[in-house]
Amino acid sequence: MNTTFTRHRRLRRNAGIRNMVKETRLHKTDLIYPLFAVEGSNIKNEIPSMPNVFQWSLDLIDKEVQEAVDLGITAIIVFGVPHPSTKDDQGSTAYHNHGIVQQAIRQIKRNHPELIVIADTCLCQFTDHGHCGVIEDGQILNDPSLKLLAKTAVSQAEAGADIIAPSNMMDGFVSAIRAGLDEAGYEDIPIMSYAVKYSSAFYGPFRDAANSSPKFGDRKTYQMDPANRLEALREAQSDIEEGADMLMVKPALSYLDIIREVKDFSGAPVVAYNVSGEYSMVKAASQQGWINEEEIVLEQLTSMKRAGADLILTYHAKDVAKWLQS
Ligand code: PBG
Repeated sequence: MNTTFTRHRRLRRNAGIRNMVKETRLHKTDLIYPLFAVEGSNIKNEIPSMPNVFQWSLDLIDKEVQEAVDLGITAIIVFGVPHPSTKDDQGSTAYHNHGIVQQAIRQIKRNHPELIVIADTCLCQFTDHGHCGVIEDGQILNDPSLKLLAKTAVSQAEAGADIIAPSNMMDGFVSAIRAGLDEAGYEDIPIMSYAVKYSSAFYGPFRDAANSSPKFGDRKTYQMDPANRLEALREAQSDIEEGADMLMVKPALSYLDIIREVKDFSGAPVVAYNVSGEYSMVKAASQQGWINEEEIVLEQLTSMKRAGADLILTYHAKDVAKWLQS
């Protein structure tokens, strides 16, 4: 037969051949596993909107960390859930020596020196108003917030954090934190900046988990408008100029185009944050028996890598590590 077409199916004939020409592969080392450290003892609280995700008190958290390490996970990020009575308008337990995040990092690094421990650097879990910066007359002030964020990052580095991941979206946070870290002697600690963070409805379940909803208004004066693409590139550019070592795009699935553009534009390591709402939707559909959870999650994470992500921060990390094993 005179073929006037290309036989693409030759390279799809069987699993062996398909595997040879696979362009994108997931590895366990791509994964960053988020953990919620809560003040108190003997607490393992499941987040109602996030099945199989828990708040852990420090006496129980090590077992969970060990499980992740045993599955081959090489990096975690710690979110702090302080006792509500400790919150104030300055978020002072965010940068306290014995804040929940600092304690958690110290303990986890002591027991798992090899594990990469990333600190989320923000104020919203620690402020009584729930915003990521300080407030005056109902306004979220930029520059006064920077000082507190730099203090927070330094205290996290002191506790032993390997990477600082600021998620607050104030302008200049990377340069303020870089300067603070350098001055304190932590010039070798990298910054994984949440450079491109959209004001997204997909964060809802996280705010349940971290008890960090704003008490008034919303985050639209600091987080980005989902309609904007060029603004994402300006955010990425300024963070690189200010000294960010890695760039985060958040959320992931509705923003795969942005991941690709930030990757091409910056050449920097890019992290996709597969956020809480993305997780919860998959879990809900899977609990109904409507989708195949394993296949859906692997497809989603593969698409993030195909879009240009080098690393993926995901609540599915332990499950993915198990699936990649078999
Ligand atoms: C706060 C912060 C948020 C998330 C991580 N750190 C969101 C927010 O409340 O603005 C969301 C993560 C998720 O949804 O999984 N600075």
